[in-house]
Amino acid sequence: MLSISVKEFLFWKKKQLSKGGDHQSLALLLDCIGGISKSDLNFLRLNPEDNLSLKKNLDFLESLWDDHLLKSYPIQYICGTTFWRDLKLKVTNKVLIPRPETELIVEIVFNIFGKKSQELLFAELGTGSGAISIALALAYPLWNGIATDIDKDALEIAKKNYINSSEQSNLKFYCGYWWTPLESFKGKLDLAISNPPYIPKDTYEKLPKEVKNFEPKVALLGGEDGLKHIREIIQKAPFFLKEKGWLILENHFDQGEKVKQLLLNNKFTSIEIVNDLSGIGRFTIGRYK
Ligand SMILES: C[S@@+](CC[C@H](N)C(=O)[O-])C[C@H]1O[C@@H](n2cnc3c(N)ncnc32)[C@H](O)[C@@H]1O
Repeated sequence: MLSISVKEFLFWKKKQLSKGGDHQSLALLLDCIGGISKSDLNFLRLNPEDNLSLKKNLDFLESLWDDHLLKSYPIQYICGTTFWRDLKLKVTNKVLIPRPETELIVEIVFNIFGKKSQELLFAELGTGSGAISIALALAYPLWNGIATDIDKDALEIAKKNYINSSEQSNLKFYCGYWWTPLESFKGKLDLAISNPPYIPKDTYEKLPKEVKNFEPKVALLGGEDGLKHIREIIQKAPFFLKEKGWLILENHFDQGEKVKQLLLNNKFTSIEIVNDLSGIGRFTIGRYK
């Protein structure tokens, strides 16, 4: 540990923010690499005469901050960590950085099933870092979950995140193309969830650098119209869901009505488009018959 004066540190911090970026990103860097938690940061101003301990020196931290600013390198990948709901998750460029809007999927599940629910079986298709499945497995210890992904490396990260977040054993991980790894669970799922790649090709080409240059294409691109994967997931869902089983999908901001139509065409009922916190129809949910 290195010891420096609070005054020197606060001066350094102000300088970093004057170059660009936001408070939250710098706080993540300081927490994960520097070893100063957010709560430590809040108290520093009260004790400007004190010293503080850092895991890395300020020059090193500045070089990482400059990488973030100059190369648009996502701070979560630099840190190898992100916070999502109450989880601290490992992330590398093999997994999408789980987004704050996706946190609402867990709330949708709470609304449907209540917070104390009996045993049931759920699957998440395209788990990435494992965020959604891990949150559900922790919230519902009586549930059993299956988290799948096409990318083996992503699945390894999801497994590590589960082991780091929990001592439970109610979540299993399978690799494969959408429903394929779930063959032996046909007709057995009470709930299936997916935040699949849904960005249309044209939009993908114009994504901001920090997304397009660093986050996995396989996690983002949804074919020509963005609905390629959503279509496949919905069409096969009836084989895997129990009668009255739920399907919860995240979609692009303008896809809600189209996803609703796809669900109707495949005999889903109780269909609803659910807004995110910005009032965007970000999720579409339905029950199989
Ligand atoms: C938008 S990311 C979602 C990741 C995570 N569930 C989240 O919400 O942060 C989509 C995920 O689907 C996976 N994926 C893409 N194509 C797939 C396929 N054909 N079968 C299974 N998973 C796939 C990607 O590897 C990626 O992890």
